Amino acid sequence: LILTQDDLKKIAAYKAVEYIESGMVLGLGTGSTAKHAVDRIGKLLRQGKLKTHEQALSLGIPLSDLDSHPVVDLAIDGADEVDPYLNLVKGRGGSLLREKMVEGACKKFVVIVDESKLVNYIGGSGLAMPVEVIQFCWKFTASRLQNLFQESGCVAKLRTLGEKAEPYVTDNGNYIIDLYFKQSIGDLKAASDSILQIAGVVEHGMFIDMATTVIVAGELGLIVKNK
Ligand code: A5P
Repeated sequence: LILTQDDLKKIAAYKAVEYIESGMVLGLGTGSTAKHAVDRIGKLLRQGKLKTHEQALSLGIPLSDLDSHPVVDLAIDGADEVDPYLNLVKGRGGSLLREKMVEGACKKFVVIVDESKLVNYIGGSGLAMPVEVIQFCWKFTASRLQNLFQESGCVAKLRTLGEKAEPYVTDNGNYIIDLYFKQSIGDLKAASDSILQIAGVVEHGMFIDMATTVIVAGELGLIVKNK
Protein backbone atom coordinates (compact mmCIF):
# COMPACT_ATOMS: atom_id res chain seq x y z
CA LEU A 1 0.00 0.00 0.00
CA ILE A 2 1.52 3.29 -1.08
CA LEU A 3 0.03 6.40 0.41
CA THR A 4 0.05 9.61 -1.61
CA GLN A 5 0.73 12.99 0.03
CA ASP A 6 -2.96 13.72 -0.31
CA ASP A 7 -3.83 10.49 1.52
CA LEU A 8 -1.59 11.62 4.38
CA LYS A 9 -3.29 15.03 4.46
CA LYS A 10 -6.64 13.31 4.63
CA ILE A 11 -5.56 10.99 7.45
CA ALA A 12 -4.35 13.96 9.54
CA ALA A 13 -7.54 15.90 8.79
CA TYR A 14 -9.87 13.07 9.74
CA LYS A 15 -8.00 12.60 13.01
CA ALA A 16 -8.44 16.31 13.82
CA VAL A 17 -12.18 16.09 13.21
CA GLU A 18 -12.36 13.62 16.11
CA TYR A 19 -11.63 16.57 18.42
CA ILE A 20 -14.93 18.19 17.47
CA GLU A 21 -17.95 17.98 19.76
CA SER A 22 -21.48 19.03 18.91
CA GLY A 23 -22.27 22.67 19.52
CA MET A 24 -18.66 23.86 19.29
CA VAL A 25 -17.76 27.11 17.55
CA LEU A 26 -15.13 26.06 15.01
CA GLY A 27 -12.48 27.93 13.07
CA LEU A 28 -11.90 26.39 9.65
CA GLY A 29 -8.81 27.11 7.61
CA THR A 30 -7.93 26.92 3.95
CA GLY A 31 -5.60 24.82 1.87
CA SER A 32 -5.48 21.31 0.54
CA THR A 33 -5.23 19.72 4.02
CA ALA A 34 -7.90 21.80 5.78
CA LYS A 35 -10.18 21.07 2.85
CA HIS A 36 -10.33 17.42 3.88
CA ALA A 37 -11.38 18.41 7.41
CA VAL A 38 -14.15 20.66 6.12
CA ASP A 39 -15.33 17.92 3.79
CA ARG A 40 -15.42 15.47 6.63
CA ILE A 41 -17.32 17.86 8.93
CA GLY A 42 -19.88 18.52 6.22
CA LYS A 43 -20.34 14.82 5.69
CA LEU A 44 -20.77 14.12 9.37
CA LEU A 45 -23.33 16.91 9.64
CA ARG A 46 -25.52 15.97 6.75
CA GLN A 47 -23.89 13.32 4.58
CA GLY A 48 -23.62 16.08 1.98
CA LYS A 49 -20.62 17.52 0.23
CA LEU A 50 -17.72 21.42 0.19
CA LYS A 51 -13.17 25.62 0.17
CA THR A 52 -13.75 27.28 3.52
CA HIS A 53 -16.56 29.84 3.16
CA GLU A 54 -17.92 28.56 -0.14
CA GLN A 55 -17.08 25.00 0.78
CA ALA A 56 -18.78 25.32 4.18
CA LEU A 57 -21.86 26.93 2.67
CA SER A 58 -22.28 24.24 0.06
CA LEU A 59 -21.86 21.55 2.75
CA GLY A 60 -24.51 23.05 4.96
CA ILE A 61 -22.14 24.07 7.77
CA PRO A 62 -23.65 27.04 9.66
CA LEU A 63 -21.28 30.00 9.39
CA SER A 64 -20.52 32.82 11.80
CA ASP A 65 -17.74 35.34 12.40
CA LEU A 66 -15.62 36.71 15.22
CA ASP A 67 -17.95 39.68 15.71
CA SER A 68 -20.74 37.30 16.72
CA HIS A 69 -18.55 34.55 18.23
CA PRO A 70 -15.42 36.19 19.64
CA VAL A 71 -14.36 32.96 21.31
CA VAL A 72 -13.74 29.97 19.06
CA ASP A 73 -13.67 26.55 20.74
CA LEU A 74 -11.48 24.80 18.22
CA ALA A 75 -9.73 25.71 15.00
CA ILE A 76 -8.43 23.17 12.49
CA ASP A 77 -6.02 24.27 9.77
CA GLY A 78 -3.06 23.21 7.69
CA ALA A 79 0.39 24.80 7.74
CA ASP A 80 3.36 25.22 5.41
CA GLU A 81 6.05 24.57 8.03
CA VAL A 82 6.04 23.23 11.57
CA ASP A 83 9.17 23.60 13.74
CA PRO A 84 10.05 21.36 16.74
CA TYR A 85 8.34 23.82 19.13
CA LEU A 86 5.10 23.76 17.09
CA ASN A 87 5.68 27.23 15.65
CA LEU A 88 4.30 27.50 12.12
CA VAL A 89 4.62 29.21 8.78
CA LYS A 90 1.31 29.77 7.05
CA GLY A 91 0.10 31.73 4.09
CA ARG A 92 1.87 30.14 1.15
CA GLY A 93 -1.63 29.61 -0.19
CA GLY A 94 -2.28 33.34 0.27
CA SER A 95 -4.33 33.32 3.47
CA LEU A 96 -2.73 34.37 6.71
CA LEU A 97 -4.34 37.46 8.22
CA ARG A 98 -7.87 36.15 8.67
CA GLU A 99 -6.54 32.78 9.77
CA LYS A 100 -4.34 34.44 12.37
CA MET A 101 -7.31 36.41 13.69
CA VAL A 102 -9.46 33.31 14.06
CA GLU A 103 -6.72 31.05 15.34
CA GLY A 104 -5.59 33.68 17.83
CA ALA A 105 -9.11 33.70 19.25
CA CYS A 106 -9.48 29.97 19.77
CA LYS A 107 -9.11 27.82 22.86
CA LYS A 108 -7.62 24.91 20.91
CA PHE A 109 -5.78 25.11 17.59
CA VAL A 110 -5.21 21.77 15.92
CA VAL A 111 -2.79 21.85 12.99
CA ILE A 112 -2.91 19.10 10.38
CA VAL A 113 0.07 18.33 8.16
CA ASP A 114 1.80 15.58 6.29
CA GLU A 115 5.38 14.91 7.36
CA SER A 116 6.86 16.97 4.49
CA LYS A 117 5.93 20.12 6.47
CA LEU A 118 8.27 19.38 9.41
CA VAL A 119 11.33 21.64 9.54
CA ASN A 120 14.22 22.10 11.96
CA TYR A 121 13.67 25.85 12.08
CA ILE A 122 11.25 28.39 10.64
CA GLY A 123 12.28 29.09 7.06
CA GLY A 124 14.18 25.80 7.00
CA SER A 125 12.30 24.40 4.01
CA GLY A 126 13.89 27.09 1.83
CA LEU A 127 10.39 28.15 0.82
CA ALA A 128 8.68 31.46 1.45
CA MET A 129 7.66 33.08 4.73
CA PRO A 130 4.90 35.40 3.54
CA VAL A 131 4.31 38.94 4.79
CA GLU A 132 1.08 40.74 3.90
CA VAL A 133 1.75 44.42 3.12
CA ILE A 134 -0.36 47.31 1.88
CA GLN A 135 0.06 48.06 -1.82
CA PHE A 136 1.30 51.63 -1.28
CA CYS A 137 5.08 51.77 -1.85
CA TRP A 138 5.44 48.00 -1.48
CA LYS A 139 9.00 48.10 -2.87
CA PHE A 140 10.05 50.31 0.00
CA THR A 141 8.43 47.92 2.50
CA ALA A 142 10.02 44.91 0.78
CA SER A 143 13.48 46.42 1.03
CA ARG A 144 12.96 47.26 4.70
CA LEU A 145 11.95 43.63 5.30
CA GLN A 146 14.95 42.29 3.43
CA ASN A 147 17.30 44.59 5.34
CA LEU A 148 15.88 43.42 8.65
CA PHE A 149 17.14 39.87 8.00
CA GLN A 150 20.31 40.66 6.08
CA GLU A 151 22.34 38.43 8.41
CA SER A 152 20.14 35.44 7.51
CA GLY A 153 20.70 36.02 3.79
CA CYS A 154 17.11 37.17 3.32
CA VAL A 155 15.68 37.77 -0.14
CA ALA A 156 12.31 39.53 -0.40
CA LYS A 157 10.13 39.00 -3.47
CA LEU A 158 6.71 40.29 -4.44
CA ARG A 159 4.35 37.37 -4.95
CA THR A 160 2.99 37.39 -8.49
CA LEU A 161 0.50 35.39 -10.49
CA GLY A 162 0.40 34.09 -14.03
CA GLU A 163 2.48 34.75 -17.13
CA LYS A 164 2.08 38.50 -16.86
CA ALA A 165 3.40 38.30 -13.31
CA GLU A 166 0.60 40.45 -11.94
CA PRO A 167 0.90 41.05 -8.19
CA TYR A 168 -1.05 38.54 -6.13
CA VAL A 169 -3.79 40.34 -4.19
CA THR A 170 -4.97 38.88 -0.86
CA ASP A 171 -8.55 38.54 0.33
CA ASN A 172 -7.99 41.87 2.11
CA GLY A 173 -6.78 43.71 -1.00
CA ASN A 174 -3.10 43.64 0.00
CA TYR A 175 0.12 42.33 -1.57
CA ILE A 176 2.36 39.56 -0.29
CA ILE A 177 6.11 39.86 0.07
CA ASP A 178 7.66 36.41 0.30
CA LEU A 179 10.78 36.25 2.43
CA TYR A 180 13.38 33.53 1.76
CA PHE A 181 16.04 32.85 4.36
CA LYS A 182 19.39 31.13 3.87
CA GLN A 183 19.69 30.43 7.57
CA SER A 184 17.67 30.61 10.77
CA ILE A 185 16.41 34.04 11.81
CA GLY A 186 16.94 33.17 15.47
CA ASP A 187 14.50 34.51 18.06
CA LEU A 188 11.10 34.33 16.38
CA LYS A 189 9.35 36.65 18.79
CA ALA A 190 11.97 39.33 18.22
CA ALA A 191 11.72 38.78 14.45
CA SER A 192 7.95 39.07 14.63
CA ASP A 193 8.12 42.30 16.63
CA SER A 194 10.52 43.90 14.20
CA ILE A 195 8.45 42.90 11.17
CA LEU A 196 5.27 44.26 12.72
CA GLN A 197 6.98 47.53 13.57
CA ILE A 198 7.39 48.37 9.90
CA ALA A 199 4.60 50.70 8.77
CA GLY A 200 3.04 49.15 5.69
CA VAL A 201 3.18 45.62 7.07
CA VAL A 202 -0.21 44.20 7.89
CA GLU A 203 0.70 40.75 9.23
CA HIS A 204 3.22 37.95 8.72
CA GLY A 205 2.89 34.21 8.30
CA MET A 206 4.75 33.06 11.42
CA PHE A 207 2.27 31.61 13.88
CA ILE A 208 4.36 31.61 17.04
CA ASP A 209 3.22 29.66 20.08
CA MET A 210 -0.33 29.38 18.73
CA ALA A 211 -0.81 25.70 17.88
CA THR A 212 -1.97 23.57 20.81
CA THR A 213 -1.80 20.28 18.88
CA VAL A 214 -0.10 19.26 15.66
CA ILE A 215 -1.22 16.07 13.92
CA VAL A 216 1.42 14.77 11.55
CA ALA A 217 0.60 12.01 9.08
CA GLY A 218 3.53 10.07 7.69
CA GLU A 219 4.31 6.77 6.00
CA LEU A 220 4.68 5.17 9.43
CA GLY A 221 1.41 6.48 10.82
CA LEU A 222 0.09 9.39 12.83
CA ILE A 223 2.00 11.41 15.39
CA VAL A 224 0.10 13.76 17.67
CA LYS A 225 2.23 16.46 19.25
CA ASN A 226 0.75 18.51 22.08
CA LYS A 227 1.97 21.79 23.52
C1 A5P B 1 -3.25 29.12 3.40
O1 A5P B 1 -2.73 30.25 2.87
C2 A5P B 1 -2.24 28.52 4.30
O2 A5P B 1 -2.02 29.19 5.45
C3 A5P B 1 -2.50 27.06 4.48
O3 A5P B 1 -2.94 26.77 5.71
C4 A5P B 1 -1.24 26.39 4.19
O4 A5P B 1 -0.73 26.92 2.99
C5 A5P B 1 -1.37 24.89 4.11
O5 A5P B 1 -1.95 24.49 2.92
P1 A5P B 1 -1.87 23.00 2.40
O6 A5P B 1 -2.61 22.19 3.39
O7 A5P B 1 -2.53 23.04 1.06
O8 A5P B 1 -0.43 22.63 2.32
